[in-house]
Amino acid sequence: MSDNSTANVHDEPHNGPIKNPKQLLMAVAFSFIVPVFIIIGLVMTVTSGNKPGLGAADAERALAERIQKVGMVEIRDANRALKTGEQVYQGQCFACHASGALGSPKFGDASAWGPRIKTGFDSLWHSALKGKNAMPAQGGGDLSDVEVARGVVYMANAGGGKFEEPKAPAADVASPAK
Ligand code: HEC
Repeated sequence: MSDNSTANVHDEPHNGPIKNPKQLLMAVAFSFIVPVFIIIGLVMTVTSGNKPGLGAADAERALAERIQKVGMVEIRDANRALKTGEQVYQGQCFACHASGALGSPKFGDASAWGPRIKTGFDSLWHSALKGKNAMPAQGGGDLSDVEVARGVVYMANAGGGKFEEPKAPAADVASPAK
């Protein structure tokens, strides 16, 4: 071994960043402490997912509002019981046809209904569905086609018509040309 190599051997263990026992102690301490904080940080990040948004005054309500959309789906029962002709009339058509307002054929007035009844049920139904002159579509109501048909039959029959009340949806009643 030359003098040079002796110096090299002596230097070798001190090549890393750790130069003395104190630094070694600190390195060991950090290698334990830092992971612990990282774990605590991860745990906090994960659990904070359930907290309501910042600034929410009422945590319960904030949470309820966030999940609200699912609960707010409006379900309309397509199979709800259809209104009878009388119910449709009382609920919607009555407004004009009870008094003959706006020039509508008055309920029970055979002379007003007679000529209209002659045009046929489909024609009357079509008028009621789509509206005619001063009458808005469906008389302004939110009804099914069959319910409108029942309203038409109810009124037309009260005015001397002899139409049959439509029973179930679509299948039993042929749609008028729209
Ligand atoms: C806003 C007032 C108003 C309401 C509500 C209303 N109608 Fe009318 N209706 C009229 C008027 C006005 C006429 C006459 C239209 C014309 O021939 O110029 C009429 C005419 C009709 C006719 C005859 C159509 C024809 O071709 O001769 C039918 C059938 C009828 N209405 C059914 C209904 C039914 C069924 C309802 C309820 C669902 C209803 N109406 C609600 C104003 C109304």
